[in-house]
Amino acid sequence: MALKALNIVIMAAGKGTRMKSAHPKVLHKIAGRAMVQHVLDNTAGLHAERRIVITGHGAEAVEDALQGQAQFARQIPQLGTGHAIQQTLPLLGDEAGSTLILSGDTPLITEATTRALVDASAGVKLVLLTIEYSDPTGYGRILRDGDAVNAIVEHKDATPEQRQVRECYTGIMAAPTQALKRWVQNLRNDNAQGEFYLTDIVAMAVADGVPVVGVRTTDETEVLGVNSPMQLADLERRYQRKQAQALMEAGVRLADPARFDVRGTLVCGSDVEIDVNCVFEGKVTLGDGVRIGANCVVRNAQIKAGARIHEFTHIDGEKQGVSVGEGALIGPFARLRPGAQLGAEVHIGNFVEVKNSTLAAGAKANHLAYLGDATVGERVNYGAGSITANYDGANKHRTVIGADVHVGSNCVLVAPVEIGAGATIGGGSTITKGVGAGELAVARGKQVAIAGWQRPQKKK
Ligand code: UD1
Ligand code: MG
Repeated sequence: MALKALNIVIMAAGKGTRMKSAHPKVLHKIAGRAMVQHVLDNTAGLHAERRIVITGHGAEAVEDALQGQAQFARQIPQLGTGHAIQQTLPLLGDEAGSTLILSGDTPLITEATTRALVDASAGVKLVLLTIEYSDPTGYGRILRDGDAVNAIVEHKDATPEQRQVRECYTGIMAAPTQALKRWVQNLRNDNAQGEFYLTDIVAMAVADGVPVVGVRTTDETEVLGVNSPMQLADLERRYQRKQAQALMEAGVRLADPARFDVRGTLVCGSDVEIDVNCVFEGKVTLGDGVRIGANCVVRNAQIKAGARIHEFTHIDGEKQGVSVGEGALIGPFARLRPGAQLGAEVHIGNFVEVKNSTLAAGAKANHLAYLGDATVGERVNYGAGSITANYDGANKHRTVIGADVHVGSNCVLVAPVEIGAGATIGGGSTITKGVGAGELAVARGKQVAIAGWQRPQKKK
């Protein structure tokens, strides 16, 4: 392994002027993850010896975001892509092997393509990833002599004839590490932009007799860079469409793949149906036959087989997670928060919030209610407008409700409190003391009836 070390270098020092943002360009997100994070994740499988990120604009923010995942080489000021690589020289190591050069603003590069470049380089060849564009304006052009690549000429330095070439450099290459170190030290900036062009190493390699290979890709999406909010949104859609396609190929029925977003991982069983405008974040699993209504947001949750999540439901498990049992009915307009653990056939209706609570099989809270820090037994019916008062202003306390309890409407259960199995709580009660199994508890002002009551009259 030490004989053929692989370095991955990610260029991320550029300003990204056209983003018109205070944030470094490479930290803008695709599917909820920073672009440069995608690059790291997509190449994790190459098991590189070293991962080096070149930072400059917003260096601290980028380094914070990637702490522990890479080494950093700062490039201040930014004098071109060749100058960027010069900053990594002390970090590249002395072993034979290849250095894979990527861009932090080209997030959708795939592991397969990068692996092919590294394999083709094999520590001895300079391998360039290229693509044919119908409009190549702005890109470095690949100059070939037959099959062999002779040089890359930047658009601004190209002759009108060279500008006819449609094969472009994608900004991605794999180079023999020790030769790369030598070449970048010899770069000059006597060109149209007064920059040190990394692309000038191609002619140096040819002069050194090092084989230069151009590998063509036809997948535009994986080499598209982001320079503007429009391009960011375009890549986002391409990324989402790919995810949607993969899920649909596995049998998931999306009402409209163009109105579907996964920002994390979504694992689906068979016969899952997802209506329009749903967003899945973090880790979400949907069991067999789960149906998700329109306009739901589901984050870090496990929805078990046959459960139905109705329209406009918001589920956010944060770190603790949320679990929804088999055949449960949730929503519309329900809110499940971290630690909501719902058993089979549980019903949670409109404007009901559940946090850090366990509901056993068949429990129901159908309207306008709050269950926080509660343990709810099987088949409990929790009335409309009832709440657990779980917070005394300083600490949280638990409410325990036994199986088959019937809580009437508009009750306040002041925690800590325990309601025994089968008990009934009269509507409008404020319960501050435990209720025994099978008891009826009513804790409200007694109804008073005054016959012949005269309402006050307006004075004339
Ligand atoms: C570069 C290539 C061009 C190729 C194109 C593909 C050079 C000289 N040209 O051009 O052949 O067709 O990419 O998109 O390499 N960066 C730094 N420090 C710098 C300059 C750039 O870190 O001093 C980073 C940028 O943040 C970006 C990447 O390098 O991630 C590419 O830089 P960019 O300015 O976009 O290069 P292009 O001019 O597009
Ligand atoms: Mg560019």
